Amino acid sequence: MSLAERAAREARLVRQATIAAACRKCEIGYTRCNNVYGEGDPCASLMVIGEGPGETEDRLGRPFVGRAGTLLDQMLAAIDLPREDVYICNTVKCRPTFKEGEKLRNRPPEPFEMANCRPYLDKQIEIIAPKVILALGAPAAKTFLGPKFLITKQRGIWYEGPAGIPLMVTFHPAYVLRQTGNTMIGVKREVWHDLKLVRAKLQEATLPSEAPEIEQATLFEV
Ligand code: URA
Repeated sequence: MSLAERAAREARLVRQATIAAACRKCEIGYTRCNNVYGEGDPCASLMVIGEGPGETEDRLGRPFVGRAGTLLDQMLAAIDLPREDVYICNTVKCRPTFKEGEKLRNRPPEPFEMANCRPYLDKQIEIIAPKVILALGAPAAKTFLGPKFLITKQRGIWYEGPAGIPLMVTFHPAYVLRQTGNTMIGVKREVWHDLKLVRAKLQEATLPSEAPEIEQATLFEV
């Protein structure tokens, strides 16, 4: 990818982030601290899509920086992908919350919130044009595959995602963290299965013509 193309994508993402930050289509646009647009490599082959920002993400304005984020980083590292090489975002850019006493608690995004935010997500997908999309958890999967999607039965296989991009669904890292004992081991095994498919698809998608060229002259320079 040329430097000019990278810069152009970066500029488009910055502009779109500003547009998304001005959005108040949902109530959560008023209760959030920050609009968590997304971050990562604008030329990433892999785009990871979670459900919505939690408390830490809302405070810092960055996706997946809490406990679930740490596990996501480990999951990506397991398939040799540093976080910086991936683009990470969510189905909704504002933190979905409900009030408990004086405190705001996290909740999954409502379908109408995901629908309101969908144009922002679609723009991100259009700009980044990833080779593969990895959806984390049922809400993210339902955004693309419809409300009947059952993560326990339908994850771990390839779907045709937006713009025909291969889409894989796996368990959300926060769900993995909520499991204990053998259940956690089982869930981790399933996530690993899905991640290996993602790695293979990414390798397949990187055609030899796109692999970085190494000049012989450099290799044998003395
Ligand atoms: N969970 C999500 O789905 N997204 C985040 O950014 C953080 C936690």
